[in-house]
Amino acid sequence: MNLDPYRDPVLYDLEYAGHSLDIAWYTSLVGGVGGPVLELGCGTGRIALPLLRDGHEVVGVDVSQPMLDAMQTRLAAEPEAVQARASLHRADFRTLDLGRTFPTVLLPFNALHHCRDEAEVEALLASVRRHLSERGVFGLDCYLPDVSLYARDPEQRYEERVFRRPDTQEEIVSWERSWYDESTRVHHVQYIYRQSDGTEQTMQLDLRMWTHEELHAHLKAAGFTLLNEMADFEGTPMGPGALQSVLVLTA
Ligand SMILES: C[S@@+](CC[C@H](N)C(=O)[O-])C[C@H]1O[C@@H](n2cnc3c(N)ncnc32)[C@H](O)[C@@H]1O
Repeated sequence: MNLDPYRDPVLYDLEYAGHSLDIAWYTSLVGGVGGPVLELGCGTGRIALPLLRDGHEVVGVDVSQPMLDAMQTRLAAEPEAVQARASLHRADFRTLDLGRTFPTVLLPFNALHHCRDEAEVEALLASVRRHLSERGVFGLDCYLPDVSLYARDPEQRYEERVFRRPDTQEEIVSWERSWYDESTRVHHVQYIYRQSDGTEQTMQLDLRMWTHEELHAHLKAAGFTLLNEMADFEGTPMGPGALQSVLVLTA
């Protein structure tokens, strides 16, 4: 398991500060179904905190202590009533057994790609089943294979951006470079961060890719029934060429 991109939650939050469509979608999903919510791979609380503020009880599970610590810090700045609705657990979502079920289980923001083989996906989906109430709702999103990304020159840097770290006020320039390993079906994405003194820090995200057909075969084998699927968080219908799958299922 490569947790490299999660060792610096400040950079993680900066990297994804512009992502808000998925937050709106998950909060609307939970608003319709209701909590309590189990979020698998809750990270720094990007999605969990808005759910907590909306009045839902959220149990957040993550294997990365730095990410959980960052969420705890953000929680501490919330009103007591919000804090009281949250509980955090450090655990592997594939082997998790909380001994309770939830009307809503979420696996947001590509966490599925952390499963490297069939057995790991099966274990994760069995864990979701274990924690999902009867007729409960399972919401998740993941990428689908994108050949245009895999054609990128692995030596070249793409997507230059400039950030300012809120903790040190330091200006940071970032790039991405990536390559796809056909034999393992892993898309390796390196985030390169150049500090103001010129030093660089690299974090590597390894995403095991699954085809649309494989994804659905796994979900079906795990006993899930599809309620809705879209090609993005804007509601584009699923179809050929989709690069993302946003799914709602029940058991
Ligand atoms: C892309 S982040 C998503 C975080 C958060 N849900 C969000 O939307 O910002 C994926 C999270 O899954 C966690 N994770 C990866 N493998 C895990 C595992 N086996 N068990 C639990 N958490 C895991 C990582 O530590 C990371 O915080």
